[in-house]
Amino acid sequence: MTEERHSIPSTASYEADPAEVGRVLLLYSGGLDTSVMVKWIQEAYETEVVALTVNLGQPGEDFDVVRGKALDLGAVDCQVVDAREEFARDYVLPAIKANALYGGGYPLFTALGRPLIAKLAVKAARATGCDTIAHGCTGKGNDQVRIESTIMALDPAMKIIAPVRGWQMGREEEIAYAREHGIPVKGGTEVTPYSIDDNIWGRSSEGGPIEDLAEPPHDDVFELVTDPRNAPDEPQDLKVGFERGAPVALDGERLGLVELIERCGELGARHGVGVVDHIEDRIVGLKVRDLYEVPAAAILLSAHAELEKLVGTIHQNRFKRALDEQWAFLVYAGLWYEPLREDLDAYMDSVNAHVTGEVTMRLYKGRASAVARSSPNALYDEALAGFSESGGLFSQGASPGFIELWSLQTRMAYRIRNRGRDTT
Ligand code: ARG
Repeated sequence: MTEERHSIPSTASYEADPAEVGRVLLLYSGGLDTSVMVKWIQEAYETEVVALTVNLGQPGEDFDVVRGKALDLGAVDCQVVDAREEFARDYVLPAIKANALYGGGYPLFTALGRPLIAKLAVKAARATGCDTIAHGCTGKGNDQVRIESTIMALDPAMKIIAPVRGWQMGREEEIAYAREHGIPVKGGTEVTPYSIDDNIWGRSSEGGPIEDLAEPPHDDVFELVTDPRNAPDEPQDLKVGFERGAPVALDGERLGLVELIERCGELGARHGVGVVDHIEDRIVGLKVRDLYEVPAAAILLSAHAELEKLVGTIHQNRFKRALDEQWAFLVYAGLWYEPLREDLDAYMDSVNAHVTGEVTMRLYKGRASAVARSSPNALYDEALAGFSESGGLFSQGASPGFIELWSLQTRMAYRIRNRGRDTT
């Protein structure tokens, strides 16, 4: 076994040469892949494993149990880092300011979490004398790109191993390996067919029956969001307060960002809000179907975008959309440390300096829609918006002159292109 694995040729400079692996820091989730990995790395590399589990607010996770499991499997240590505050402040908040949705539907919760997880892995590896970081990503996804590019950016000397890419075990073989090595398998023989990832900003399911594009999602996929058919018959209005682009209050109550996101998540979930059935272009070429449950993001991103529209000029609003798209793509594509992202953040902050006010979101049977807005910075004058009034900064009498000049080139070009033809 070991011989065979040692012969896997490495293609990139940062892939660990088995002969050189000293001590391994494993990013440990407590799931099947990384549990098998705790044992497998000890055997294949004859080395010690230090586990690191990062709490990004995975709903319902008991981190004491996760830690105990790693230790039972022979990890010399398992550190659990509560990174929820940092995740919310430094990753989710910039995403809100950038209205970040990839492919029009994916709020990037996984993509935002990976660079933070990888950063914490580098820190923990250094602190515990590890020269190699191991993770449980497959060779087919985006997560390997996000984690490895972050590690390389932060510590060029760090080596990386990604056992799932090379060990050639499918799910069945992994379960068999787990049984052989006394690794507890959640759900017994009824192991979930889905690959799940979650944190405070959302939950994704991939794989198994989801891969059949011709089939609607099975009910057993959804664990967070209530089926809209079973959601309350009464709508609920939720007033979200923003300051400089950051959500700071719900229904007038000021909350820390983590709590605010969690509360929006619960309310949205109860009302069936935030299910997305998404076909996605991965950066590694494949298309994949993801089923997302993103109740908090569905509420907060819509509320933010709504307020931003109200305070931005037509030019800012048109321009920012392209920048938002670029921001989301860089983050999706694993390039958190790309300087362009920081350049874009500077613009996002500049625009968001004026995004202060309140938006009321109505949650009802699977939808979250803005039904009221107010802002001291709104570029909106109720008196001028009416049909008949002129006055202040706006004069209806000036309109014909504007139309004549505004349409000039378009009219000329149209006439020239249609010379000699009947244009009516
Ligand atoms: N498709 C999403 C992304 O690339 C979600 C990935 C979820 N990861 C997972 N290991 N299940 O960000």
